[in-house]
Amino acid sequence: MKKITKAVFPVAGMGSRFLPATKATAKEMLPIVDKPLIQYAVEEAIEAGITDMVFITGRHKRAIEDHFDKAYELEAELAANGKDELLRIVQSVVPRNVNCIYIRQSAPLGLGHAVLCAKPVVQDEPFAVLLADDLIDGQPSVLKQMVDVFAQYQSSILGVQEVPRANTRQYGIVSSTNLDTNIERVHGIVEKPKPDVAPSTLAVVGRYILTPRIFDHLENVRPGAGGEIQLTDGIAALLEEERLLAYRFNGMRYDCGSKLGYLKAQVAYGLKHKELSADFADYLKSL
Ligand code: G1P
Repeated sequence: MKKITKAVFPVAGMGSRFLPATKATAKEMLPIVDKPLIQYAVEEAIEAGITDMVFITGRHKRAIEDHFDKAYELEAELAANGKDELLRIVQSVVPRNVNCIYIRQSAPLGLGHAVLCAKPVVQDEPFAVLLADDLIDGQPSVLKQMVDVFAQYQSSILGVQEVPRANTRQYGIVSSTNLDTNIERVHGIVEKPKPDVAPSTLAVVGRYILTPRIFDHLENVRPGAGGEIQLTDGIAALLEEERLLAYRFNGMRYDCGSKLGYLKAQVAYGLKHKELSADFADYLKSL
């Protein structure tokens, strides 16, 4: 039985929807309250038992590498000033048993190409993909839920949720039949269909568990929607030869690739933050 130990984080995107905030920094470093988006995704992977974090980075993404590295000067200063709690927070960003691996995607050729860049590290193992833009508040975390489903079925799994038909153009959309509680067997997948031709309203959000065979398909995928090498097209090819599942996860998803979704996440996480919740709730009521 195969275990998932590696997670791929495609973080090379430009973040143009958040300009000028993302002019000189990575969109994945935008915080929700006090933690960058990418750290939520990494914590989700850690909760799912993953130990190797593979970041597919690009230019202007050094802040991500620095964030998951040791910060000697900062740690020395916090220690010297007796700021033990802050020191603990800084040091616990990456637990000791977790490895961070960085691969540069030299050109923005698409999500499928980004995932393919992880092949030399992932090699012949099933692995997870997390899109940090999709922040999902789940108990247990959504990737943990999916790893448990994988342990049972040993097939590729897509995290899915229902979306309004008017929004199908923002997502990979699957056609499927029900297999078990919250689990669908996928028969087809298409990237960003128009609402009138979308096969359903079941959308892939940024959580995937994939078998390594996906790499062979991604090597042969031609540019698709938006002229990019799409992960969805690689998955469609995989589907021709392997069983593919979709999992309706339990959790609240925030689309932090959009300004409105990002603001909603700030409010939700602010309202449950241990230092802020009461004061923030009072403030919102007063508005
Ligand atoms: C990507 C995928 C799409 C998926 C979406 C989830 O699109 O290509 O299939 O549904 O993430 O957030 P993007 O949001 O990068 O355009």
